[in-house]
Amino acid sequence: MTARQRDLLQTLVVLGVLATPGWLLPPTWGLAWLAAVAVLAGPSVWLTWSHAPFVVTPASEVERIVTALRLSPDESFCDLGAGDGQLLVEIRRRTGARCHGIEATPLLYAVARMRIAASGLDRATVQLGDLYRADLSEVDAVYVWGTAYGVGTEAFRQFLEQALPPGARVVSYHTPLWGEPAQHTDTRGLRPLHVYILPGTRPTEQREPGTGAELSRVEVAGVEPASEATQSKRLRV
Ligand SMILES: C[S@@+](CC[C@H](N)C(=O)[O-])C[C@H]1O[C@@H](n2cnc3c(N)ncnc32)[C@H](O)[C@@H]1O
Repeated sequence: MTARQRDLLQTLVVLGVLATPGWLLPPTWGLAWLAAVAVLAGPSVWLTWSHAPFVVTPASEVERIVTALRLSPDESFCDLGAGDGQLLVEIRRRTGARCHGIEATPLLYAVARMRIAASGLDRATVQLGDLYRADLSEVDAVYVWGTAYGVGTEAFRQFLEQALPPGARVVSYHTPLWGEPAQHTDTRGLRPLHVYILPGTRPTEQREPGTGAELSRVEVAGVEPASEATQSKRLRV
């Protein structure tokens, strides 16, 4: 059984348990109960099947994650599979770095947007979409909770190496990302944190005078400069 099928089965079992009183109650109450379960919990079947199941990184782990990410305020961070945006907002608050999230589930994306708006923080954004299609070319560090399908695969490593700039940091909660050992694994919390640094030297970045926002990249040997089209799609920092 694949991870996806197992997650779906778990979701269906939970839904079955939630629905049980509907069969035991008198017809009117029973129907009302079943309708409530279908509306409130039914979408989770689709969410589980279409994407990784949604689980929030426990608040007690945030400090460790912030330490592992080593973000400075002039850097850019991306939460790959941002869920409801809790972690993203907390990282923005604690580091001052530009924080962006990518979330494939519309409901969670909407919640994350509302959370960011309610926080009043600037330089925190979320986009609806598939993380595998995101432009991460100006991101310094990413976080991923490895329940997203395929994160432990060679294909995911190739994706990160192509999408992220050389020397970018990748922090994975729980799941080691690929065959090689991580540069650092922190086992102090509820689950291990694996820290990887992508090969290559981090290109020097310079602020364009006056904007305080846009970053321009100084060309480094062996790194193809991005095309105009790519640049226009970039996550702006
Ligand atoms: C385990 S949750 C982590 C949520 C959040 N990062 C946190 O740590 O609290 C994984 C999230 O990744 C999202 N996800 C899974 N696959 C995705 C993909 N291909 N593109 C974007 N988001 C994805 C899921 O919808 C889910 O919200």
